[in-house]
Amino acid sequence: MKQQLEDIKQRALAALDGAASPTALEELRVKLLGKKGELTAVLKQMGKLTPEERPVMGQLANAVRADIEAKLEERKSALHAAALEAKLAAEAIDVTIPGEPVSLGHQHPMNQVLQEIKDIFVGMGYTVVDGPEVELADYNFTKLNIQEGHPSRDRSDTFYFTDDDSVLLRTQTSPMQIRTMEKMQPPIRIVAPGRVYRKDEADATHSPMFHQIEGLVVDEGITMGDLKGALETLMKRLYGEEAVMRFRPHHFPFTEPSCEMDMQCHKCHGTGEVDGQVCSTCHGEGWIELLGAGMVHPEVLEGCGIDSRKYSGFAFGLGLERMAMRRMRINDLRLIFDNDVRFLSQF
Ligand code: PHE
Repeated sequence: MKQQLEDIKQRALAALDGAASPTALEELRVKLLGKKGELTAVLKQMGKLTPEERPVMGQLANAVRADIEAKLEERKSALHAAALEAKLAAEAIDVTIPGEPVSLGHQHPMNQVLQEIKDIFVGMGYTVVDGPEVELADYNFTKLNIQEGHPSRDRSDTFYFTDDDSVLLRTQTSPMQIRTMEKMQPPIRIVAPGRVYRKDEADATHSPMFHQIEGLVVDEGITMGDLKGALETLMKRLYGEEAVMRFRPHHFPFTEPSCEMDMQCHKCHGTGEVDGQVCSTCHGEGWIELLGAGMVHPEVLEGCGIDSRKYSGFAFGLGLERMAMRRMRINDLRLIFDNDVRFLSQF
């Protein structure tokens, strides 16, 4: 039996030395030390020994098991170290290879134009203010003199949140006129840029979400001349001295008198035609409507607690996308929202 144990030990150590993988090691472990392994098989014969021999053999068997276990551990860490070595060699990084450049983005063309416009107004002493896109019908319509039943309140034009039509996505930035005048007394000089929403199909000049910039000036002695001056300054700064504009009489419930300002179409230069076809940018109009404006209606002033005998004011609301399209010479509004880098990287 002693010889048997010695044999097992010698063969085991030799076999373990030759094991080339963790799997081979594990197979050997089972074969040598497992329940059906060789050592166990020998130990099962212990019963045949005399009581004097038993402890001696037991001790020897334990020593053999310990030697085999020690060898197993040794091979395991040797194999592990070798595997790590190989992996490191395979994954070696050549730190002298030049890195790939990270390409920096830039502001979206809309933001660039918005920034320019804000800068121009801030330069004229205006403050930039911000307000909610989820708005009360009271502010979006009622306090702006837009009565129940007015077509712009129609459910086919406006996104409502509630059955009683009291909460909506603002359809214009004009509620910011009310929010501003309710909070402060003249002199007031603000611009309020932001998103507005209307149930429009998307085409080259329409989108259900677009941006407006509201402007409001209230002080003593403000006239329509101040309005025209402010807007002409804006246009010439943005588009250059050669920019061609026109003011047309119009109607808004919250301004009196009211007007719209158009800019000559940059695609067809006012002719309405490109290569004998109707111009797709202005639909043959020759002009692009940029904004609505007017003198703040005295009833709107009074409704906000401002004395309309002492103060007067002007307001305007301009479409930012249209300004950006003119400024960047973009002929389809949808390009602005598609976020295709091939388009964006041109600006
Ligand atoms: N809110 C109007 C619109 O969206 C524009 C406007 C603003 C008109 C301010 C007059 C004064 O059409």
